[in-house]
Amino acid sequence: MRIVFATGNAGKIREIKDILDDTGAEVFSLKDLSLTAEAEENGTDFGTNAFIKADEIYKKLNSLGQMNDTVVMADDSGLCIDHLGGEPGVHSARFMGHDTDYSIKNAAILAKLDGIPDEERGAQFVCHICAIDENGVRYDAEDEMPGMIAHESRGKEGFGYDPIFYLPELGKTSGELSEEEKNAISHRGKVLRSMKRILRDKGIL
Ligand code: IMP
Repeated sequence: MRIVFATGNAGKIREIKDILDDTGAEVFSLKDLSLTAEAEENGTDFGTNAFIKADEIYKKLNSLGQMNDTVVMADDSGLCIDHLGGEPGVHSARFMGHDTDYSIKNAAILAKLDGIPDEERGAQFVCHICAIDENGVRYDAEDEMPGMIAHESRGKEGFGYDPIFYLPELGKTSGELSEEEKNAISHRGKVLRSMKRILRDKGIL
């Protein structure tokens, strides 16, 4: 069995390989197969965007006759902040511009929530995974990591919004968690484990 994950992000591939290790499936990134994803992620929810990415790669591999014993997967994720009506949400990567440094994006979010009390600082990292099997059947899973927006940026681990995402029960931001600690509780870790269960139950993995 081969899993093609529609991402060029090395960190995601490492996490996916780790979680799917016990399935015996071989995991490939787009780069491994010299494929590129060009489709615009213009959906208004994570599920639609994950499907857009997975479907593009499924169609490319299918037209090349390369879907035998293969599952294509894609994820879409983002930070949803209650006080901002769920934003940046599906716009997380594009918020303030794709190439804007996260120190600037994070400072802007902290400024938007300046003076807002703890009980109104709730936020979630959400991740949706869409998988498409060799017969074109689609499987979906979504999960989240709940927390709150910190009062200041802390930690150098992780990426993106991790330094401002505070986990009250751990007393740390996700930017202060090791990769292993974060994978155990993260939105992406949870949803990957759910997708593994779904595909196992269907006899695919
Ligand atoms: P995606 O790669 O298209 O799913 O974009 C996800 C975007 O959401 C990233 O570029 C980050 O801005 C944000 N994001 C998603 N998951 C995380 C996380 O675990 N930590 C920090 N930022 C995240």
